[in-house]
Amino acid sequence: MLPLSTDKIRQAYLDFFASKDHTIIPGAPLVPENDPTVLFTTAGMHPLVPYLLGESHPGGKRIADCQRCVRTQDIDEVGDISHLTLFEMLGNWSLGDYFKEEAIQMSFEFLTEVLEIPKEKLAVTCFCGDDDAPKDEEAANYWKAVGIPEDRIGFLPKKDNWWGPAGQTGPCGPDTEMFYWIGKGDPHGNPEKNEDDWLEIWNDVFMQYNKKEEKDSKESKEEKDFVFEPLAQKNVDTGMGLERTAAVLQGVSNVYETDRMKPIMDRVLLFADIKDERNQRIIVDHIKASVFIIADGITPSNVDQGYVLRRLIRRAIRSARQLRIEHDGTFTPLIAEIVIEQYGHIYGNLKDKEKEIRDALSIEELQFSKTLKEGIKHFEKVVGEAATKIDGVTAFHLYDTYGFPLELTKEMAQERGLDVDEQGFNIAFKGHQEKSRAGAEQRFSGGLADQSTETTKLHTATHLLDAALRKVLGKHVFQKGSNITAERLRFDFSHGEKMTPEQIAQVEDLVNKAIEADFPISYHITDVKGAKEEDAIGVFDERYDNEVKVYVVGNDKMIFSKEICGGPHVARTGMIGSFKIKKEESSSAGVRRIKATISGGSDEVEVAQEHEE
Ligand code: ALA
Repeated sequence: MLPLSTDKIRQAYLDFFASKDHTIIPGAPLVPENDPTVLFTTAGMHPLVPYLLGESHPGGKRIADCQRCVRTQDIDEVGDISHLTLFEMLGNWSLGDYFKEEAIQMSFEFLTEVLEIPKEKLAVTCFCGDDDAPKDEEAANYWKAVGIPEDRIGFLPKKDNWWGPAGQTGPCGPDTEMFYWIGKGDPHGNPEKNEDDWLEIWNDVFMQYNKKEEKDSKESKEEKDFVFEPLAQKNVDTGMGLERTAAVLQGVSNVYETDRMKPIMDRVLLFADIKDERNQRIIVDHIKASVFIIADGITPSNVDQGYVLRRLIRRAIRSARQLRIEHDGTFTPLIAEIVIEQYGHIYGNLKDKEKEIRDALSIEELQFSKTLKEGIKHFEKVVGEAATKIDGVTAFHLYDTYGFPLELTKEMAQERGLDVDEQGFNIAFKGHQEKSRAGAEQRFSGGLADQSTETTKLHTATHLLDAALRKVLGKHVFQKGSNITAERLRFDFSHGEKMTPEQIAQVEDLVNKAIEADFPISYHITDVKGAKEEDAIGVFDERYDNEVKVYVVGNDKMIFSKEICGGPHVARTGMIGSFKIKKEESSSAGVRRIKATISGGSDEVEVAQEHEE
């Protein structure tokens, strides 16, 4: 087995799939654009949902990339050997091209021939079958054909061996997962039999079903109201955990000991008075995630992504306190420095935004220090009132509002000869956790994959708005951000001053005129240079190497808008209905924000197709 560095594994993966005719695309930012239902990109497939649903990708039918992902559902597991809130996912996709046989052959070849993992140390699992879909004997047979023995193949239910849809509906299917032996002695069994002995490193999802609501289902939906309909375009969506694979190949017992993570662990240790691996790992994971999130344009706040970021930084600072690291705004920037040193050569935005990252962390750290001081005051007051014990609700309040870990409250209580009601704390903590988990699930299940009619219409309306703003305000207007929910669009753009009521009315009127004109919409594929030459607007970040899609709204007489975009869009503007600007406000210095809604458009829409010469 090759003791490959993280960088070499990443490169080997991309090179391997390039050699198998895959187009290598750059990973997308952590904050999804035009995606109403998720805060962060949580898997390599997220930015590719439209293509999994049938849109054609400029890169063709075989795609591979390395995608930075943030997952916070398991934040409480961070600190163990393998959970991370930020991780890199290596992925390859077949968009209606190869399917189970070739996907399995390529996975096996990469694992055993490129990474040289002995096949004796591998096991796999396949879907065991239920009412919705049969047992995946097909996948198991392909594994046997490449040489995985029968007793290394486990069969597990949906909970384990089914992936997606990412929202409530959309493409999904059985998956087959690959595991590496981490048990004691010689490898035996498989994850169905002795799961703790096996570490999952890769997942191949066979997206062959579309999970759909049954037409006559009621408002509140239960599992039985959905059906799994075979998908016309059968896709493969894979995800390999880079950090876990690095741990395996480097022969270390956890992801924090791998070549790129270890220096960050060591840096934390430099400041710590106490050695406590779990807290050390939490600091490393959370600050690393924060660095990547800030680099992708988020700052700490009390809403959405900003709130997650704030929680990550504060949790890291709490853990730092456990290690007796005193902070005055300088600790987290010093950890960020080493994170940037380790990853800046791959993620150039970390280097470009180094100053913003350090400043944002420093400010948040200072502010949180103040909160902690307030917490101490509150503690003193409570202690003054408490007879013998600090009750659970108070301990939780100290944790939740002032950021006191239970251990800290216990220590401080002990110094005064008081007990803490730990059980009460745990009950309050669990209740809170369940509430926030339910919130997160709700947010996620809003239907990412259903790229619903409303979001498609709003997406096209956003293009019309962008064009109208440029016509009314001038060519200095550029998109600075866009966010769409099923209810509204939000569009940030460069413009130095508040729009006048007349300008707002003019923009609204122009958009509505474009809708009334019922312009056709189509796209063509060109390269970045060609798109610039034909004056298309859009973000020229060369996200898809050279090829881009240009969406054109207009007819022979008039081109209303021409914009680089991944789509999808409606086929005609008339499907949008009528357009209304609800709010115009400042977003940040030199950037204005518009929120707008649409109403009365078509209930079902056709999607814009490629322009035929
Ligand atoms: N989308 C699949 C996953 O995240 C590959 O595991």
